[in-house]
Amino acid sequence: MAEIKDVGRLPADYAANGFYGQDILSVSQFDKEKLAYIFGVAHEMRVLVERFGSADLLQGKILANLFYEPSTRTSSSFMAAMLRLGGQVIPINNVQYSSVTKGESLPDTVRTLESYADVIVLRHPEVGAAATAAHYARKPVINAGDGVGEHPTQALLDLFTIVEDLGSVQNLRVAMVGDLKYGRTVHSLTKLLVNYDVTFDFVSPEILAMPEDVLDVVRRHGHSFRVTDSVHEVIGDADVLYVTRVQKERFTDLAQYDRVRDHYVVDEELMTKAKPHMIVMHPLPRVNEIAYGVDDDPRAAYFRQMRNGMYIRMALLAAVLGKA
Ligand code: ASP
Ligand code: CP
Repeated sequence: MAEIKDVGRLPADYAANGFYGQDILSVSQFDKEKLAYIFGVAHEMRVLVERFGSADLLQGKILANLFYEPSTRTSSSFMAAMLRLGGQVIPINNVQYSSVTKGESLPDTVRTLESYADVIVLRHPEVGAAATAAHYARKPVINAGDGVGEHPTQALLDLFTIVEDLGSVQNLRVAMVGDLKYGRTVHSLTKLLVNYDVTFDFVSPEILAMPEDVLDVVRRHGHSFRVTDSVHEVIGDADVLYVTRVQKERFTDLAQYDRVRDHYVVDEELMTKAKPHMIVMHPLPRVNEIAYGVDDDPRAAYFRQMRNGMYIRMALLAAVLGKA
């Protein structure tokens, strides 16, 4: 096991869960047993919130929420997760109003925040930034998205949603659609799903294809996959249609973005071709990829998926702080 970081005095009711004092940087840290543990706790967190609204499990603990890129869901669900567990939050959602604007480095910012907080959640535009922060920090760091790299907590809530909605991850055909090159959520989710009995369809314009290093992980685990630019080719076979936004902020050539931005639109017409129990997922925010008319279809899972984010993050915070 990795070094246990400083999360204060070992709680009297410490739960030996393998997460205590650990950074959460990549989905590669999760095996089936760890996933089952987090999903079990997330389930309990949902019951807790529905019955009581909040609890005092993390009373006295402080989270530093440090976002160098825009966020609505990840930042506010981590914040809500901490508050609902009785903890407190230092919200730095606008780093431009912090000393980052004066030129402060990531290591120094992290070393500052850990003097005040027990755990740091970080979103940053550079791949590997969370690992760098974790290297310098004595307190646990949770990766909330590192550029085009990974978004591990999103992948956990995505997988949790699949299990909740479809009952299991056995014998599933998962189609990922859209910006597979720059979309960090599909990188993390693919690397997590290779542990299960899943067949993949990767659907994108050629210039937004899934990176080779992610395809290599799929190959190494012996999964078959199809690559296509046509959603019509895969829609009838899919159990999960995971749609993504074209990541405008990653393009250096905006004319190229304009050429691919509206390549795929999931609408009511396309939904008539899908299986009756297929689910449509999307990490959100959506731009034009899913028509609003699809929202009322019971197969539209993206709002359920988003709500699950808070339960997963409650489970992770409690586990890292030794209280799950
Ligand atoms: N919210 C997700 C992310 O930060 C997906 C997106 O922005 O398109 O990666
Ligand atoms: N899904 C997701 O990460 O959303 P935000 O970018 O709004 O945090």
